[in-house]
Order: sequence, then C-alpha cells, then structure tokens
Amino acid sequence: MTNGFPREFIWGAATASYQVEGAVAADGRGPSIWDTFAHTPGRIADGTNGDVADDHYHRFAEDIRLLADLGLQAYRFSIAWPRIVPAGSGAVNPAGLDFYRQLAEACLANGVTPYATLYHWDLPQPLEDAGGWLVRDTAERFRDYAAITHDGLSDVIKHWMTLNEPWCSAFLGYGNGEHAPGRTEGADALKAVHHLLLGHGLALDAIRSEGGTYGIALNPAPIHAATDSPADRDAARRIDGLRNRMFLDPLLSGRYPADVLEDTGTTEWFATQERDLPLIAAPLDFIGVNYYCPTTVAAPEGPISSPVASTQPGSENVVTVDTGLPKTQMGWPIEAAGLRDILVTINKMAPDLPLYVTENGSAYPDELVDGAVEDDDRLDYLRQHIAVCEDLVSEGFPLKGYFAWSLLDNYEWAWGYSRRFGLVYVDYATQQRTPKKSAQWLQAFLG
Ligand code: FCB
Repeated sequence: MTNGFPREFIWGAATASYQVEGAVAADGRGPSIWDTFAHTPGRIADGTNGDVADDHYHRFAEDIRLLADLGLQAYRFSIAWPRIVPAGSGAVNPAGLDFYRQLAEACLANGVTPYATLYHWDLPQPLEDAGGWLVRDTAERFRDYAAITHDGLSDVIKHWMTLNEPWCSAFLGYGNGEHAPGRTEGADALKAVHHLLLGHGLALDAIRSEGGTYGIALNPAPIHAATDSPADRDAARRIDGLRNRMFLDPLLSGRYPADVLEDTGTTEWFATQERDLPLIAAPLDFIGVNYYCPTTVAAPEGPISSPVASTQPGSENVVTVDTGLPKTQMGWPIEAAGLRDILVTINKMAPDLPLYVTENGSAYPDELVDGAVEDDDRLDYLRQHIAVCEDLVSEGFPLKGYFAWSLLDNYEWAWGYSRRFGLVYVDYATQQRTPKKSAQWLQAFLG
C-alpha cells in the first residue's frame, strides 16, 4: 500500500509508565500517587491496580520488537519519577536510570527512536504528602528530577516531553478527584495548573540543549456551543478557557486568559505569580497534541457555578451535550474533523511550531477469538484520524508525526483494565500479546 505521507513523517505508538510497567516494587522504585489511589477501595471501576499491568518492565524488549515489526519507527513512553528519585526529592536511584537506558537502547537496536515523557502522572507519594501540585515546591522538585534524568539519559534519548496532559493532572487530580490524588479543591485546581506549567518551564530551562528536541504533550480539544445562543456561546467560552486557553496562552503567549481567572476568582492569586510567565513561555521545539474527541456544551438552566466537585471550577453547571455522534466505549464522540480544528487553532497561535499527534486512539470491548481480534471500529477510527493528518500534511501544515494510543492494552486509570486502547491485545492472565486487526491495517498502510 502507498500513502501520501513524506518519508520523514514519524510514526509511533505511545504508552505510560504506570499503565504498562507493573513491577511497582522492583529495583528501588518508590510509591507514587497512583499506587496509593489504585489501592484505595472504591476509586477504580474494576477494583484493580497497576502492580503488574502489562509487566512491560520485564517484557519491554519483546514489546519494542513488536512495535518495530508493525513498521513503527518511534516509541513514546514515560519515565516514572519514583523509579529515578524514589522519594520525589533527595537520593537518586541508579537502577531506575539503568532501566530506562536499557529500554532506550532496545529501541535504538530495533531502529526505533525513543520519545520520553518525564511526567505521565505518577507523582512520588511523599511530594503529594507535602502538598502535591498545589504547592510551588513540587515544580522545583520536578526540575531537579528532570535534570537528573536528562543528564543520565540524553546520550540515548534525544526527544523529550516534560508533562503529559497537565489538564488531567490538575482538573481530574485536584478538581473532580477522578484521578490520583483524588482531591476536590475547587478553584485551587488552577494553582495546580500554574505549578505544573512552572514545573514544565523550570525543567525545560534545565534540560534544553543542542542535539535534542523538547516539548510538552497537551490534550486540547475543540469546544462547540450546543446552539448559537449567547448563553451557550458563553458556556463554550468558559470550557474552552479551562481546557485550552489556560494552557496554550501561557505557553505560547506568556499570559493567562483573564476571563478564565475572572470566572474562577483566581485573578489576585495569579497576579502574584506573574514573574514565572517568561519561563513558562520559553521557546518549545514542538507541541504534542493528544486528541480523542471534541466536546459540545450548553449553559445550565440555573446558575453557572456551584460548590460541587468538578473539572470545571467556576463553571460547574455547564452541561456536556450529546450531539448524536457515534461513540467509543469511553462514551467519547467520534469526530476526526476535531483533530484538524485543534491542530489549526494551535498553528494559528504559533505558525511555525512543529506539531505532533502524541496520542490518538479508541477503546472498544475487544475479544480474542481463535487467536485474532477483529477490531473494525478501532480500525475505522484510526483510518479517519490518519486521513485528517494526511490532508494536513499534503497542505504543507507543520505536522511531523503521529503516535497511536496505545501500543498495548493497558491500565486505563480509573477504569482499570476494563477499557482496551491497544493496537496489540494483552491477555492479562498470560501476558500474551496479539496484534489486532487495526495493527495489521496500520502495518500495511505504512508498508
Ligand atoms: C489520555 C492519557 C493516556 C490514556 C488515554 C486514553 O488522556 O494521556 O494515558 O489514558 O487518555
């Protein structure tokens, strides 16, 4: 099969440490907020945890060979902070650095380029005990960990992302409590946004050097208003502010969106943090976009704000509307055009900045039947979203690569093992890997 992508376009697949590694007590790893959270009764849909997950810690060599066999040439994985600095600050664990060196070397030996994310949500528990992302110190400790990791591995890893989806860390972690550490702090979740972005800026400043590329992976999404009414348009402005502009504006323009600070009553607090903005807005080599679905919102009947726990501080009552689009098993509506919309939005803010799709994928209730997984729905999802990328690239848009989420079925956070996103099916009882039909399609497409 031939496709319209240039040869230099990067094709990869992504995973994250806590979702795939397992081996949570191996070789000096410390506990993270996800260990604590997953072991707290009632937090995870199926009551499971990441203690074993895909056992990628012991099976990474096989998994990387699998990735290479699919014709992919890049692997986006995350580095577990509690493997490198087990208590979050202080003593460094050489065995942790060693593990990721072996992983990166296995990539290189298979012709696969490693892309590392420094923080995909597994904050060392002692740092959460000291205030987590609500306190500035965590950003500084993140810088220290990033510098140690980069110093130890930059000879084998050239492509770095600081954070994965700080929206989730802040608003699921400290907003509605659906993710670790499970706190519900109202508008204080915006302090977490700032400390995460400060951590990004401090880390970038510490690690950015010749010969590497440095970026961040965000999860921006198009936010549609359900109708053209002023109230619905205002609802969309609010949610777009929290989801997109609260991250893109400081990173790309060095300022926070005034309307969001006003909606959330945080204007005064943010005024005391202004000195951090130049660091947060320091030049990036790329932005990674994790895209799954758009969101359509409407104004509530009554007041817009209420004191309930929510990912939408100050706009808690804004309603998410079902527009009748087909959905994945997550209940996420499928709209490939949304990927174009959000990439174009970012490109308008930063016209020359290289962009990557660093995650894109879908969950379906796959079944292994006679050694095969016929995941036609995922295949369609993949095909539609890749077609959007193909169009953009043919128009000369600076989209440089596409990473499927995920290489493997894995531990889907608060959903446990009840949601499968992999190109490769994992039988959790035997750890056997089986490439799904979607993986075979991708392999042929990359041909
Ligand atoms: C993203 C996360 C990733 C995975 C997918 C489905 O928000 O970055 O770890 O859970 O969603």
